[in-house]
Amino acid sequence: MSAPYKIYLEEDQIPKKYYNIRADMPEQHDPLLNPATGQPATLEELKSVFCDELARQELDTTTRYFDIPKPVLEFYKMFRPSPVIRAYNLEKALGTPAKIYYKFEGNNTSGSHKLNSAAAQVHYAKEQGLTSLTTETGAGQWGTALSMAAAFFGMDLTVYMVRASAEQKPYRKAVIETFGAGIVPSPSNTTEVGRAILKEHPDTGGSLGCAISEAVEQAGNTPNCRYVLGSVLNQVLLHQSIIGLESKAALDSIDEYPDIVIGCAGGGSNLGGLIGAYMQDSLKGKSDTRFVAVEPASCPSLTRGRYVYDFCDTGKITPLARMYTLGSQFMPSADHAGGLRYHGMSPILSKLYHDGYMEAVSVHQTKVFEAAVMFAKHETILPAPESAHAIRTAIDEALECKKTGEEKMILFGLTGTGYFDMQAYSSYLEGVMVDYVPTDSELEIGFSQLPNIA
Ligand SMILES: Cc1ncc(COP(=O)(O)O)c(C=O)c1O
Repeated sequence: MSAPYKIYLEEDQIPKKYYNIRADMPEQHDPLLNPATGQPATLEELKSVFCDELARQELDTTTRYFDIPKPVLEFYKMFRPSPVIRAYNLEKALGTPAKIYYKFEGNNTSGSHKLNSAAAQVHYAKEQGLTSLTTETGAGQWGTALSMAAAFFGMDLTVYMVRASAEQKPYRKAVIETFGAGIVPSPSNTTEVGRAILKEHPDTGGSLGCAISEAVEQAGNTPNCRYVLGSVLNQVLLHQSIIGLESKAALDSIDEYPDIVIGCAGGGSNLGGLIGAYMQDSLKGKSDTRFVAVEPASCPSLTRGRYVYDFCDTGKITPLARMYTLGSQFMPSADHAGGLRYHGMSPILSKLYHDGYMEAVSVHQTKVFEAAVMFAKHETILPAPESAHAIRTAIDEALECKKTGEEKMILFGLTGTGYFDMQAYSSYLEGVMVDYVPTDSELEIGFSQLPNIA
């Protein structure tokens, strides 16, 4: 019997627990450090930045499964389960013997997987009695997702939006405002760190690292407020584990198991979430699935970065994390996949990559958009540029199968839709898109400013 085009689990099959991959990792990543003391960040210290439950989740290395709170499960029902789709039409167009499946997370107004963690983070903050939150957003999907969750659960929200994105995507900004959140283009004059960055770089379009610094500072200066982050952190990978758990339940129901799992990697949240349930088998020696992170050649933290302690933000006010990084002062060139323009990478994924459990590749944006257009024409979904990085590599793997005649099963994460990225699509279609690749000496500028921690 052939697999259906789409597999939707029933509503009551939405996973009831998040999976914490750290409980199965043979070795833990190095701890977050308090930059003031150089010592591992304590729970109490983290609680001054994040709400209590999220701070606890951040440090928990042993609890394998966390119950998903009931209000969050109820919220998920509005857009989950999300489908696993067999890309029959893409396979046919490629003439590949490979079987290609994708998990589609773009079927909600935020247009991405970010809503999975947004709902959980807002719920925990609300439950603690906090009244407002701050965050950053780059491409805009995280800000949109958080504004949706904040509106639903009744929290005030201020979003520091990377200035270049706020200018390029006025409608993304309007969507966030529609859900009632305030938007501040970053860097701004509302924070000390923003003013300092503007003084040094008055014309900067900003970066995710700057926006994080501003949002953290603002949360610290606002009563009953905490900061929330849409990627990188362990707590975010925990919430995103629902992607992999659902994928596995759906594919188990048709007796399919991936040979290769592929995801784009910005800060690592969708990839960490997608691979989790399968990585668990791999870590236990039950499978030899390959896991592939795909990043832009313009911002190659895994493939060309260093595995060292670094700040998570440009203003150097967050805890230090040991991760693959290009340096917190690295300013990525203008690439259209805004959500992948981050200097660092999730400490969990960095550790898995460093220890050989995961691979990484980098791809040029023109090849990414070529894949995006091909995918849209054959599968009829217009992908986000970030997601199209995973499509590119899935296509490359499928074409390799065509050469070798192997019938591999490929699963990739289609994290979102690209309706707010039409300027990027136009630039590709008009033939004016440029592939930015930093030279070694450009990368050296970021490396030379890394904190000196043994
Ligand atoms: C659609 C989409 N995919 C992927 C990403 C990358 O983030 P992460 O690596 O945390 O999944 C983003 C980030 O904004 C995004 O909007």
